[in-house]
Parts: sequence; structure tokens; C-alpha cells
Amino acid sequence: MKAEQIRKRFIEFFKEKGHQVVSSSSLIPADPTALFTSAGMQQFVPYLSGKDDPPYKRACSVQKCFRTSDIDEVGDEFHHTFFEMLGNWSFGDYSKKEAINWALELLVDCYHLEKDRLWVTIFKGQAGVPRDEEAKKFWLENGIRKEKIKEFGSEANFWGPVGSTGPCGPCSEIHYDRGKEFQSKKCTLPDCGPNCGCGRFVEIWNLVFMEYDKSETGEFRKLPAQNVDTGAGLERLACILQDKESDYETELFLPIIKKIREIAQDDENEILNSNNYVIPPSINIPKRNHRIIADHIRGACFLIADGVLPNKEDRGYVLRRILRRAMCYGKLSKCPENFLISIIQTVIDNYCETYPELKSKQNDILTVIQNEGKNFSKALDKGLKEVDKLKMIGGVAREKPGINPPTLNRVDALKVFYIIQTYGVPLEIIKEELAKKLLLVDEEELQKEIRKHQEISRAGVKNKFGGVGEWGEQVAAHHTATHLLHQALRQVLGNYVQQAGSDLTPERLRFDFTHTEKLTGEQIKKTEEIVNQIIDQKLEVKMEEMSYEQAMKSGALAFFKEKYPQTVKVYSVGNFSKEICAGPHVKNTSEIGKFKIIKEQASGAGVRRIKAILEK
Ligand code: ALA
Repeated sequence: MKAEQIRKRFIEFFKEKGHQVVSSSSLIPADPTALFTSAGMQQFVPYLSGKDDPPYKRACSVQKCFRTSDIDEVGDEFHHTFFEMLGNWSFGDYSKKEAINWALELLVDCYHLEKDRLWVTIFKGQAGVPRDEEAKKFWLENGIRKEKIKEFGSEANFWGPVGSTGPCGPCSEIHYDRGKEFQSKKCTLPDCGPNCGCGRFVEIWNLVFMEYDKSETGEFRKLPAQNVDTGAGLERLACILQDKESDYETELFLPIIKKIREIAQDDENEILNSNNYVIPPSINIPKRNHRIIADHIRGACFLIADGVLPNKEDRGYVLRRILRRAMCYGKLSKCPENFLISIIQTVIDNYCETYPELKSKQNDILTVIQNEGKNFSKALDKGLKEVDKLKMIGGVAREKPGINPPTLNRVDALKVFYIIQTYGVPLEIIKEELAKKLLLVDEEELQKEIRKHQEISRAGVKNKFGGVGEWGEQVAAHHTATHLLHQALRQVLGNYVQQAGSDLTPERLRFDFTHTEKLTGEQIKKTEEIVNQIIDQKLEVKMEEMSYEQAMKSGALAFFKEKYPQTVKVYSVGNFSKEICAGPHVKNTSEIGKFKIIKEQASGAGVRRIKAILEK
């Protein structure tokens, strides 16, 4: 079934069941705290949270979405930056039973998927929210056998909120079993199933039962009305319904991929597997490059059509980053200069019937990408040449955990820093290029160079990474307060706020973060209030050790992503904040004292700095 049909049938199906058909909202969300529209529910948050009365009780849509969280996986079969989400909603109307019945009815009776291949997951209960027995009961009643119903915790089966507060709840996912032949060799599990990650099972639909509202202080309160929020990825459904190996083989991508194949001077069919640990060894490099270019150029066209322009901050930075990445991969696939321009038309032709804004904004799309290309192209050429010149400086680098890495030799981190800084070549691409020659950059050293450049004092560096035991309790209190401040800023300003540096003394804390404008008095006050509320709640500060992957899955914040060891420490303060960190911290927020911001100022482009003290 073609994607166009999949969209149409989805909408018709739910329209027949009394749903209001709502058009896709922009990729720039109304909610100023969200970077992009990353799920269909975003335009309905005021109804889901009970803030506004919904004009209808049921809705359905096909929503344009953009997620940055999966960017490293783009190039495999099923991950994208831009994608379309099919969804249906109940605002205090129907609940689990109908959501489950209808999802199965649509998949089996309308899309004609084999029911036997469908597996489901339910929430097993965690953090004061009970196991979802009800969902299990309805799946069983619908003929899903109990061995195909798997249970997971909040890492997989609790969804939302999109920002740090708002509607959320346990969810139930439908996975499709592609069959044993898709089970990768690395999967040794006798009971391979949903979320195994080996490639055999594909998640196709997520049914969220929005029963809770997460407050600023991290509590889950029952919402006045029980809601349903669902989301199914169009690209994945198309892939499954067309029996293709990947989303890129469906007509949503194929014309774009074909165009890239035409332009690129490498051969997608040439089996050129990665021989390193940076890219999974089973991935064919030319094919991966083409997929990344296709994904990024498609995403860029949609972002520009919705009014995003490349710049150094927030959305504009993301757009710039995907365009630069597309150009880099194009270069590596031997595409001629300005090749992106010739692909744009294919993207527009492929999508303009469903999304006419691509046609009406065609000139903007062309101009923006052309200008961005002009600015970056020369730098990229030089930058990649510099990468090519990087040589081992001797000494075997620290072994990377993972897939039996071969012996790797280090290159000069300062030179790598210089290449990133001067030419704007993304670090991930430098790493991939080095790995092809069994070279690597010691990321700890690189981070040091970056921090030196950011003029973060030695003391600050030592504090963040080396431990500061001798400074005693005051520093621990300031350190925990830094985590609270970080989370509070994300709530007040938006989730795009990221730590850009920090420095502690026993007298004060200093915190640098990504944000462009001066904070208003109101924002400063609100931030202080949130931090002090948490301190007053006397919350326990908990440390857990886990794998870096688990930590990321659990939603922990991480800022020097590249340099973490395999096992990391995750510090959480109640449900309020969770960060990967080396410590030290106080045991309970009651030990912190009263938090007060004493200064807020600029600290470089797009970075603000806060100084704060703790009063006893
Ligand atoms: N909002 C849910 C999701 O994005 C459906 O998975």
C-alpha cells in the first residue's frame, strides 16, 4: 500500500469513528519551551492537560514531526530527523479499550497486516504508577496471546511529557515481527522480541494513555480527564506494508535516493562495510551516506518551508547542522559541489501534493540552501583535507568499550579542535573518517581543548570531572544546586537550555548555559523559586550506576556526551532532575541552604552566565 493510501485510510478510519480531522501544525511549535514539533500531540497539549476545553472530544491527524534525538541513528533502516506521525486522540472521551480495539482493527482489517506478527508491550509499573493490567486485559481480549505481550518500565512504556512538565502516561506499543531472517547475528537471545534492537522487531504504533500531569516539582498528578494519544510512524508503516527492507526503499524516499545515486560518484551497491566501531560494522557505508543525505535534505526543506533559517542558535543551529552534515556526506560520496540544489526539486516534487507549502516556499528553500552551501563549501574542502592529513602521534589510546575495537592510535586533539573551530567540520564526521584509518581523537583531550577555549577555569574543570573532595561540603552543596538550577532554567526558558560550562568555589557557583537573550527579572525570580521549592521539599539525592545507554534512555541529561565511560553515575533529585555526573553531591536537598542568583550576564555568543550563592 502506498503512503498516500496509508494516510488516507488512517484519516477515513478515525473520521468514521467520530474523530475531527485536524491538519498538521507547523514544525515550529506554539509552545515556546519546545524546540520542534516532535509528536502529533503537541498541538493538543492545552486540551490534554485540561487547560482549555477541547472543541471536539476526538481528533486525528497526520503530523509533520522533527526529532534531533535520533540523529546518530539516521542511516539505518528506520530512524529519521523529519517524519510523519499518524495519530488519534481522545480528550476525556474514550479510553484504553477503544484505542486498542481500533488500532488492531485498522492494522488487521484495513491495512491487512498479519495479526500473528503483531506483538505488544505494556507498562510494568514503576515510580508510584501501577502496572497497566487493563491494557493487558484488552490485548488478551483482542486475541493477542499472552506470550506476545511483553512488559517494560518507564524507559520504553511511559511516554512524555514533551518538555519537563505536562501530560504524560503509561503506553502500550505495537511491534511488528519481520521474521527470523531479519534477526541480526548479534542477537543471541533465545526469546528475541520487542525492544531487543536487533532489527527483527519494528515498533509501529504507540498508544499513550495520558492519565498524569508531571508538575514542575516532578510529581505525577492524575489528570481530571483520561486521555488517549497515539502515534504511528508513516515511514515505518509504509516499509512494513510494502514489505521493504527499510524506509528508504519506500516511495517516500526512493526518488530522493535515486537522485542521489545519480549524482554521487560512489556506488551504493558496492559493499563497503565499516571496519570500525564508530559505525556499526554491518552498515554499508555508501548506502548509509546516501540515506543520511536523503533524510537531511528532506528535513531541511520542511524546516525552511516552516520558516526556520540557519543560524547559530536553537532551531537555526539544527538546520545548519543537518545541512552541513548532508554536505559532508555528499563530499564523502563524491558528489559535485552544490549537489544539494539538484536534490531539492525531487524532494519538493515528491511531497508538494500533500504539503503545498513546499511549493509555495520553493524559492526560500533554494536560496537558503544555496547560500548556506556557498558559505560552507570551501571551508569543508579545506577542513576535510586537514582531517586527511591527521596522523598518529603515537601511543595507543584508551580502549573504547564496545565491539572489540582494534588497536587505535591517537591524533593530536588540538589539531582536531582547530579543524572543528576553523572549518566547522562536525566532530562525528571527523571521528568516522579517522576510524577508517584506525585512528581516533582522545575525546577527553579534545574536551579539554574545548574547555580551555571557553575559558573555563582549571578549578571548574577539576570540579566537574575530577572530584573536589577537599573543598568539602560547601562545594557539594553548590554542585547539587547547579543541577537544580540547570533543570529550573529548562523549565523557565525551555528544554533547549544546555549546560555550556560550570565553575564552583566554596563561596559561589557559576553556570554557563545556551540561551540568547538577557533573562527578565520575572524569569530570574521564577528560576530561584523553583530551585528553593525543591530545596524545601527535602528531597533525597540519589546516585545510581548504569551503562551510558541506559542513562540516556532514562532521560538523564548529559553534556560532554563524547567522553563518558561505559558505566556512568547518574544523580537524581527526586523526580526533578537527573544528570550524568561524577559528583560530589549532598545527600538531601535540605543541606543546600537558600539559593540566590546574584548576577546574570552574557558569556560569549548564545551563552548566558549565572552566578549564584547559597545562604545558610
Ligand atoms: N506521543 C506519542 C509518541 O510520540 C504517541 O510516541
